Amino acid sequence: MTPTNGTGTHGAVLQDTEPEDGSAVVELRNAGKAYGNIRALHGVNLTVRPGQVTCVLGDNGAGKSTLIKIISGLHQHTEGEFLVDNTPVRFTTPRDALDKGIATVYQDLATVPLMPVWRNFFLGSEMTRGPWPLRRLDIEKMKKTADHELREMGIVLDDLEQPIGTLSGGQRQCVAIARAVYFGARVLILDEPTAALGVKQSGVVLKYIAAARDRGLGVIFITHNPHHAYMVGDHFSVLRLGTMELSASREQVSLEELTNHMAGGTELAALKHELAQVRGVDVEELPEEEDLTAPVATAPEGSA
Ligand SMILES: Nc1ncnc2c1ncn2[C@@H]1O[C@H](COP(=O)(O)OP(=O)(O)OP(=O)(O)O)[C@@H](O)[C@H]1O
Ligand SMILES: [Mg+2]
Repeated sequence: MTPTNGTGTHGAVLQDTEPEDGSAVVELRNAGKAYGNIRALHGVNLTVRPGQVTCVLGDNGAGKSTLIKIISGLHQHTEGEFLVDNTPVRFTTPRDALDKGIATVYQDLATVPLMPVWRNFFLGSEMTRGPWPLRRLDIEKMKKTADHELREMGIVLDDLEQPIGTLSGGQRQCVAIARAVYFGARVLILDEPTAALGVKQSGVVLKYIAAARDRGLGVIFITHNPHHAYMVGDHFSVLRLGTMELSASREQVSLEELTNHMAGGTELAALKHELAQVRGVDVEELPEEEDLTAPVATAPEGSA
């Protein structure tokens, strides 16, 4: 049962059926979240399986961050169910999520730029040696382990003594991914890891997403970019205004369809209309004028 992630939460819901192959580590069933009166998320179904990449796509304000904040223990859902290993859970702190093996790499990585790479790798979980009260940091072991772990993930840095702030954004993402793997993550959540990166660096990060997947982690990859998603994704969920507009496996959706879902035809048309009023923008490449549906309510300000 439950072959692919259909949207049916009311149908044959797996209550306490025996786990199937690739059974879910994390699952949201009809989950939602309201911030006071604001309903940020509603009726969301999402399944994360070991060794698979689940992509969550959506425009600004679609609810992507809200979704991962529920899973990473920063916020609580106010509707529906959230299950880990088929058991309903309600996390109160990110620590609860970490204890279940759910690690989140935020875009503004919580690193200390001036500290060496190896030190950042162990930040907050330093290795120590010697008996109390003589216990001190086991620097050699930490350096060795960080080096080994990074290599295991295929990340080769010249010098682990260099401040992490001197690494590129992509490299820092990779260190964060390797760190999560080392500390035993089963689920890795990446909030727009490629958003600020160029083509080449994005490629590197995508490579490590695949590496984490190959090591059996369930990955939740949040992105605006359908191309990036399609390169590594097994399942695609598109959020729009807080609800799930599309939930499809790789076999069910092409890159072209995914792109269309992301940049919905109507939005593109409206964008074209706005851009046409700005001098110096070539709108030729955008869709045909007749696709324009709704008039744009307010004309944009003359000056940019
Ligand atoms: N703490 C909060 N209090 C009230 N409303 C919130 C809060 N956080 C988010 N929202 C609202 O919930 C909706 C979804 O926001 P969310 O940050 O999840 O979107 P997003 O898809 O991550 O967007 P972006 O791509 O810009 O990061 C938005 O309308 C936002 O204004
Ligand atoms: Mg966000």
